[in-house]
Amino acid sequence: MNPLSNLPIPLLAWYRDNARDLPWRRDPDPYRVWVSEIMLQQTRVAAVLGYFQRFMEAFPTVRDLAEAPEDQLMKLWQGLGYYSRARNLQKAARQIMTDFGGAFPTDYKEICSLAGVGDYTASALASICFGQPTPAVDGNLLRVTARILADDTDITTAKGKKHFTDALARIIPLEEPGKFNQAMMDLGAMVCLPNGAPLCDKCPAADFCQARIQGRTGELPVRPAKKPRKIEDRKVFFLFHQGKVALRRRPAKGLLAGLWEYPNTLAEEAPPMPNLEPEFAGTGVHIFTHVEWRMTAWKAQLPTADLPEGWVWADKAALAARYAVPSAFAPFQALVEEELP
Ligand code: ADE
Repeated sequence: MNPLSNLPIPLLAWYRDNARDLPWRRDPDPYRVWVSEIMLQQTRVAAVLGYFQRFMEAFPTVRDLAEAPEDQLMKLWQGLGYYSRARNLQKAARQIMTDFGGAFPTDYKEICSLAGVGDYTASALASICFGQPTPAVDGNLLRVTARILADDTDITTAKGKKHFTDALARIIPLEEPGKFNQAMMDLGAMVCLPNGAPLCDKCPAADFCQARIQGRTGELPVRPAKKPRKIEDRKVFFLFHQGKVALRRRPAKGLLAGLWEYPNTLAEEAPPMPNLEPEFAGTGVHIFTHVEWRMTAWKAQLPTADLPEGWVWADKAALAARYAVPSAFAPFQALVEEELP
C-alpha cells in the first residue's frame, strides 16, 4: 500500500480546522493569487502580508501593474528581496495585456509562458484558481512527501523533484486540488517543520508517515550540503551635504539590479570619488543567498554639492518615498537619519 494514498482525506479534514486565514485565500482571484505566490517565493507569509496589502492598494488590477512606473514598483518591493521577481511581475502583467487581452490565462502552458512563472507557480495558480489537479511542489511539499514515503531521493535535483511531483500527481484529489496544495503548504509550515523538529503529535499523517514510524524524520528529506557563501568585505560611504545624502543607482544587471545604494566598494578598491576624508562610522553585516557583505561604514560632510555622474542627493522625504534602497543597508539607517533634518 502506498502510504501517500492515505493522505488526502485526513489532510483536507485537518485543513478545514487549521488553514491559515490569508488575504489571497478569502478571494482567490488569479491576479491576487499570482502576486501572492510570487511574493511567497523565498519569503515567509508573515513578511509578505504588509507588502501584499500595499501592492494591491497601489496596483489593484493587472492593467495598473502593467502601466506602473518601474521606480514606484521597486519602491513598493523595497525590503522584500529578490527584486527580479518584481520586474518579472510587471513583464508578465504586460504579457497578459498584450497576449491575453487583459484576462489571466487559464491554460497551464499559457500560464507557464508568463515571465517569472515556473512549474511551481503555474501549478499553484492552475489548482487554486482553476481547479486543475497539478501538485504545486515547493520545499514544503517535498519535505512532507519525502517523509511520508521515507524516500531518500535528493529533493534538490530536477530528477528528484519530478519523482515527488509524479507521486503527488497520482493522489491529488480531483475535486479539491487547490485546497490539497495549500493544506500541504500549511502542514509543512506549521507541523512538518524542517531541521528535525516536526510536531508529529499534531500531524494528520502521523499514523502512516513512514519517516515517523521508522524514527527517521531527522534525516529526511535528503539534500546535499550547500557550498559556503562568498564573503565580501565592503566599505560603504555616507556622504552628506546640506541635509542630504548621496545615492547612486546600481547596474542594470546582477545583484540588486537597478536599485539605489550608498556608494560602496570592495575594501581593497579605491574610494568611489576623489579627495574623500571620511571618518569610521560603524559596521554591519548582510547575508544574501550566495554572498555575505561585511561592511564598514565611513561618513563625511562634502564641501560642495558636486557628485560623480549619475549620483543623486536624497533628502529624508525622497529616501522614504522615492528611492528603493535594499535592506542590506538597513544596519546604517540610524546613522543616515541622524544627519538628515
Ligand atoms: N506559500 C506559498 N504559497 C502559499 C499559499 N498559497 N499558502 C500558504 N503558504 C504559501
